[in-house]
Amino acid sequence: MALLKIARMGHPVLSQVAEPIEDPNDPLIRQLILDMIETMEDAPGVGLAAPQVHFPLRLVIFQVPKNRQDEPTPSDEVADEAHEEPLTILINPVIEALSEDMELGREGCLSLPEMSGLVPRFNRIRYTGLGANGERIDRTAEGFHARVVQHECDHLDGILYPMRMESLDSFGYNEEIQKGL
Ligand code: NI
Repeated sequence: MALLKIARMGHPVLSQVAEPIEDPNDPLIRQLILDMIETMEDAPGVGLAAPQVHFPLRLVIFQVPKNRQDEPTPSDEVADEAHEEPLTILINPVIEALSEDMELGREGCLSLPEMSGLVPRFNRIRYTGLGANGERIDRTAEGFHARVVQHECDHLDGILYPMRMESLDSFGYNEEIQKGL
């Protein structure tokens, strides 16, 4: 396992359209997945797309804490871990909006460290793709879970969240934004 270097906004790998993965069982893909998990956990982040670690391939991983946005933040780490969703590995994902409803929510990205902004995303989506063992994944998601999937899959089409923002008024450094709260 190895920590991978994360590309930051401006690096050309983040602007390109990533290629589909032909064989999810390719040992190189398996190793990439393991390294991406380690890199995401180290960062830490809730999601990571392969182009962010310089591999222009259609692969994302994410782990959405269940309590995020829907429940008050737990005050201890045990509760936090108990609420964690399993890690999802999604190869060649396809997203379909299940309703036209969109919601604004604050997003950050490991490729734009220490910054965030309000981004409109579909509230309800269906996503399909392949898992780490080539198994079919077909799920519906709402709220923060849906937001994370949309954010990560955008990376596969060369889209970073500021490109989705309706206004840059809410965009900035987290440390400064916190001062205004
Ligand atoms: Ni991102």
